[in-house]
Amino acid sequence: MKVFITGDLPGNAVDLLLKNKIEVVVFDKDRALTKEEFVKYAKDADGVISLLRDKIDSEIIDSMPNCKVIANYAVGFNNIDVAYAKKKKIVVVNTPDVLTDSTADIAMSLVLACARRIPEGEKIVRNKKFKGWGPKLLLGYELRNKNFGILGAGRIGAATALRAKAFGCNILYYSNHQNLKLEKATGAIKMPLKTLIKNSDVISIHLPLTAKTNNLLNEGILKLLKPSAILINTARGEVVDEKVLIQMLKEKKIFSAGFDVYQNEPNINPELFKLDNVVLLPHIGSATVEARTEMADLSAKNVIAVLSGKKAITPVN
Ligand code: GLV
Ligand code: GLV
Repeated sequence: MKVFITGDLPGNAVDLLLKNKIEVVVFDKDRALTKEEFVKYAKDADGVISLLRDKIDSEIIDSMPNCKVIANYAVGFNNIDVAYAKKKKIVVVNTPDVLTDSTADIAMSLVLACARRIPEGEKIVRNKKFKGWGPKLLLGYELRNKNFGILGAGRIGAATALRAKAFGCNILYYSNHQNLKLEKATGAIKMPLKTLIKNSDVISIHLPLTAKTNNLLNEGILKLLKPSAILINTARGEVVDEKVLIQMLKEKKIFSAGFDVYQNEPNINPELFKLDNVVLLPHIGSATVEARTEMADLSAKNVIAVLSGKKAITPVN
């Protein structure tokens, strides 16, 4: 058996696979593979551990006739043609749970960074522009008593809501499913998207990217935001109409926005660099030692399970 890993992962994935007598090939350059490279390395693989930056379409899947499992080193799996994999009897797995707290932490970091204008303050100090304490210097907003709207009440949305609750926020949520546990823990109130957007002071996106959520926050929805609103996206860039959002930020139609994800990553719209009322992170939601190590373990264990004829631990299809 042979497994191809498309990047150098932290943790013990390789050791776990080797211990199970699985041959491992790692693409250890610090960049995404080209399609040709992918096909070259993966053509005889029984399993693949893939990264978000790998687009696994039907062509790639067809180039791996032996493949039985694709383990995406991420919770989101919009980079994989899951329906086609299923047709080819390939199990696709992801890494839920192990990155929930890390991602909720980064969402909350962006909320605070936006609300208290932390990057602007940092820039003043670094550029030696700090002239001393001032009564009107960098006024932001408190979180206490603010309406905190969560889009998507899955694991990460719920974990973010718990954090916001601890800061004194009222939790609102938009979701296909009622989350009674979340309601019980935080007093969260479920509401339609438009109602949530109109009533929230902070909105944090925790939806997977699907055909239904693509461009969900379109112009008509974004225009409903309060002028004092803060919008945070740690999910997928494509959920938001980025162009409209940038225009609104330019015209100060909302207070600020925190981005961990973008449309067309890693090619970021240069208009964003010109804005002071944004906080820009390089897709690091799950980038903790804890999460990335556990993600590697979980990916390897899923692959081992499938290749030894057992059920996958965290299948998506
Ligand atoms: C990160 O974006 C993930 O989906 O795990
Ligand atoms: C989604 O998969 C989540 O973990 O919130």
